Amino acid sequence: MTKNYITSPIYYVNDVPHIGHAYTTIVCDMLKKYQQIRGQEVFLLTGTDEHGQKIENSAKAHNQTPQAYADSISARFRTLWEEFDIDFDYFVRTTDSAHCHSAQVAFRNMLQKGDIYKGVYEGWYCISCESHFTKHQVVDQKCPDCGKPTTTIKEESYFFALSKYQDALLQWYDRCPDVIAPKHKRNEVIRFVESGLVDLSITRTGFSWGVPLPEGVESTDKSAPKHILYVWLDALVSYISAIGYENALRMDLWENTTHIVGKDILRFHAVYWPAFLMSLGLPLPRKIYAHGWWTRDGVKMSKSIGNVVDPKEVAKHYGIEAFRYFLLREVPFGQDGDFSQKALIERINSDLSNDIGNLLNRLIGMAQKYFNLTLFSTQIEHFYPQEVAKIAPILERFESAMSDMQPHIALEELWGLLRLGNSVISTYEPWKMMKQAKSEQTQALLMLVGNILIKVALCLYPIMPKTARAIASALGYSIDAPSFARYVSQNTFISSATLTPVPPLFPRIESPLMPDPSAPLDSQSSANTESRSESNPKSDSQPSVCASHASSQANAPKPKDSQSTPSLVGIEEFAKLDLRVGVVLECQRVPKSEKLLRFLIDLGEPTPRQILSGIAKYYDPSELVGKQVCVVANLKPVKLMGLVSAGMILSAHDDEGLSLLSVPKKAGSKIS
Ligand code: MSP
Repeated sequence: MTKNYITSPIYYVNDVPHIGHAYTTIVCDMLKKYQQIRGQEVFLLTGTDEHGQKIENSAKAHNQTPQAYADSISARFRTLWEEFDIDFDYFVRTTDSAHCHSAQVAFRNMLQKGDIYKGVYEGWYCISCESHFTKHQVVDQKCPDCGKPTTTIKEESYFFALSKYQDALLQWYDRCPDVIAPKHKRNEVIRFVESGLVDLSITRTGFSWGVPLPEGVESTDKSAPKHILYVWLDALVSYISAIGYENALRMDLWENTTHIVGKDILRFHAVYWPAFLMSLGLPLPRKIYAHGWWTRDGVKMSKSIGNVVDPKEVAKHYGIEAFRYFLLREVPFGQDGDFSQKALIERINSDLSNDIGNLLNRLIGMAQKYFNLTLFSTQIEHFYPQEVAKIAPILERFESAMSDMQPHIALEELWGLLRLGNSVISTYEPWKMMKQAKSEQTQALLMLVGNILIKVALCLYPIMPKTARAIASALGYSIDAPSFARYVSQNTFISSATLTPVPPLFPRIESPLMPDPSAPLDSQSSANTESRSESNPKSDSQPSVCASHASSQANAPKPKDSQSTPSLVGIEEFAKLDLRVGVVLECQRVPKSEKLLRFLIDLGEPTPRQILSGIAKYYDPSELVGKQVCVVANLKPVKLMGLVSAGMILSAHDDEGLSLLSVPKKAGSKIS
């Protein structure tokens, strides 16, 4: 069986985890889960990078020893990953003695290979990036990567003969064109190497928080400067120290290595690291994926602005599953992304609450009503051949996007499947089929939807593991590799399901749940207003609507009787109405009332609304189940026949009778 090894960067312990760290680690976990569900064995490494000048300075600023400081922040990372259900197999710390020993062994091996020599480093250094720069690279004494001030250093140093590996690296990029992804990042790396590599300083002497050189290398002269390993050499070696470099390296894992990193540290992984590996005589990574950068509301996150997104806070307010979905869906892998509560809420309401949550609840509702929660059909394809034919190509595109590390495309594809599920219900209207005694067709239709949901759940597992399990178990199935092979890779269909009602998976969210930091970001209420105006084109389009309305009125014949002219309302008054699409979940006569029907209506809210409507003489309740109606959602609740009615269903009336207004849109869609 293929064994894969996935690594996240090991994170600096100078500060607590933020959304960027969470993103990288979630991407790693997603990849692990995807490979596992496809039947592969995977080992996931994460950990913390605890040495170096930056950590030493941070510890000092917190009045702690570097080790005590590293212990506390490292524990924060580890606990966070555990809370986020990150399925890591090993958590490496560069202060672990086994790791320190491996780093020394690696240094000695490179020395013995003749790749390390002693000299003097003179140049610029960015403590924040722990990175060296030449005079031509710094801009106004600032780091070209992070923009922070650099310091100049001149000190004795051991150098790694990086320049010796320039040609070998270029040949490797050429021979293995897919190793570095995305492509444009690979091209940047190639240009960097082609522009000429200089040997790399791999020891520091000005401070002491690091791995000392192996015994016997340093001069015995007490007055000679003491060297410690350059923090990046120390950190990169953690990828092999974690799987036994110093005794028995697990080559079965090492030969299938995927490194996932942010674009900020690609150079270290795609240039220095492979050169170190060549020096050590080890195979090079199979894949190095570089992702983009997360900003907040368009602004780079920084502690001084106070806009750093705390992943724990997001998860606390919105749930880990929705957060994972948002991070993986919102931004094409490799590009920069922006975090805003508004965008997160929109994703939750439209993609999760409406598209998945509603489909599952509609299926369960109808299965309960018509078939006592037990479905069976072997005639899905017979009755719905066109719909069935659409499924295989979607699954193929899903798998190909996941293999290309494009989770946002994979999710787009999966939502195509959910749309198919929702549309077969509105197209074939099972409630009508039941009235026409087409029980077999209805059962086949519900089984088609059940199949769609099983396939969606299996595919969704790497992205939203708990949601996937919840959907599968509501349908009486489980999430595992054999099911993935059967129902996704081979696209076979289940023919029976015993359903279990579940509470709504993703209740709608009406306004931001987290307090926003002050400065460059707008207040909560502004986020709220923006989201409203976007989902409801009233705001900007109003003037033109009014104008065209006015001119058409000017041309229209004058009403005969001015008394009958309805009084005009301003757009502001109209805008006070919250009109929504609702889907009828239940409908019954109100006992002892000739007029009233009692509806339970899904408005995309956490719980369905009860609304009473006086239309009993126009409709048989059973024909209304599943219908999409228009609802005044912000009407003051009233009590009728002892029952609360929270809203009004709109209808049109003429001499021939009454018809409910119906809009083929999802539950909760705003009508304006
Ligand atoms: N310790 C080094 C990595 C050594 S790996 C052998 C380091 N650590 S770090 O704490 O700064 O983490 C860097 C990684 O965190 C980035 O490469 C990226 O994966 C993630 N992110 C940190 N901030 C980020 C954003 N604002 N946006 C997206 N991810 C970023 O570098």
